[in-house]
Amino acid sequence: MDKILIEGGEPLRGRVRISGAKNAALPAVAACLLCGEKHVLRGIPGLRDIRTIQEIMSGMGAEFQSGNNGLTVDTSNLRDGEAPYDLVRTMRASILLLGPLLARLGRARISLPGGCAIGARPVNLHLKALVSMGADLHLDRGYIHARADRLRGAPVFFDIPTVTGTENIMMAAVLAEGRTVLKNAAREPEVSDLADALRGMGARIEGDGTDTILIDGVRDLHATTHTVIPDRIEAGTFMIATAMTGGDVVIEGCRGEHLSAVVQKLQSVGAELVPVKEGMHVRGPGQHRSVDIKTMPFPGFPTDLQAQFMALMSVADGSSIIKETVFENRFIHVSELKRMGAEIEINGNQALVRGRAGLLPAPVMATDLRASASLILAGLVALDGVTEVRRIYHLDRGYENLETKFQGLGARIWREKA
Ligand code: UD1
Repeated sequence: MDKILIEGGEPLRGRVRISGAKNAALPAVAACLLCGEKHVLRGIPGLRDIRTIQEIMSGMGAEFQSGNNGLTVDTSNLRDGEAPYDLVRTMRASILLLGPLLARLGRARISLPGGCAIGARPVNLHLKALVSMGADLHLDRGYIHARADRLRGAPVFFDIPTVTGTENIMMAAVLAEGRTVLKNAAREPEVSDLADALRGMGARIEGDGTDTILIDGVRDLHATTHTVIPDRIEAGTFMIATAMTGGDVVIEGCRGEHLSAVVQKLQSVGAELVPVKEGMHVRGPGQHRSVDIKTMPFPGFPTDLQAQFMALMSVADGSSIIKETVFENRFIHVSELKRMGAEIEINGNQALVRGRAGLLPAPVMATDLRASASLILAGLVALDGVTEVRRIYHLDRGYENLETKFQGLGARIWREKA
């Protein structure tokens, strides 16, 4: 298994280009199922999760071709709507295939995603909404079997604003009969990006970016060309890393409006962040002030940057409280950060981080995607030795060439193949 090694101590300097967003690319690829033509998607990052969704869709008859012009997705020969357990268990977002398959084929068979490292993560809200649109669902041997002649538009209220739930139902609704109104919908930029992609196919959607989305079903859609938004979590990871190492980096493609909660918190830490033509110019402070954060749905502080921010707070002056409100059990990185000398106490969904002057290099284990990034950031400031981050396959699910990008900014970081 590959591992990443880091010799900390170098402030990051230079320019880095942000890749297309994983969480916008996955629904965009799934949306191609809605219309049996050749679609072109641009900005799709080279990540394991993207290869997984392609593999599942290839099994259904979809064809993919990557070229200079982008990724061509041809779903004209779709024959089947099955997503097998062996692939779904590696990526929960496979549930995104359910809405479009039901809308296009009137049937789907998707393995129920299992639990994962960051809590139970159920999909009950996706299923409840599809039932209210007339789908017939039942569970058999770990698979969701879904059928519908033609889905009907319906009012849907999400008890919790769920990102992939909102996306799934939006895709189901674009070909349904009549109007669907999503209330308490997720407002994340990736939801709006999917709405843009669907409108490019001829869908009628309004209100994305707010908590109420209206979708008027249409009979047919057509092929589209769509470019996904830059990855705000990757951009936020570089922002935090630059602040943490006292660096000076221009993050190209970073959209400040997608990261305003993070920008404000980093300013309170003492970093300077200035929007520039290419993206965001970040200058880290010599000393870091501690600040509290609470993760929230967009536009609040993103849960996908909580672990990275905790690494930063581990080397800040004073104590900070980090409260996780989106997922249960999303503190599994804490025990690994502690192995590097971080002083963190967990109490329920709250972590008390007592900042210290520096961290110590150590062999550590990545436990999930964002936890891996936080350990790499910790490694960038750990002095006198080499930090070794194992189980790096988690990182490859969601960050494109992370170590190469850090190398380009002057970090001493490299990958060793097992
Ligand atoms: C998406 C992102 C993930 C991010 C998360 C929160 C993708 C592919 N992944 O995940 O990176 O961390 O949003 O910003 O876009 N819930 C239910 N029932 C449901 C659905 C969700 O109870 O049917 C709960 C979850 O357990 C969680 C909360 O709702 O507590 C929010 O989860 P959700 O927004 O659905 O996360 P994902 O869409 O899986």
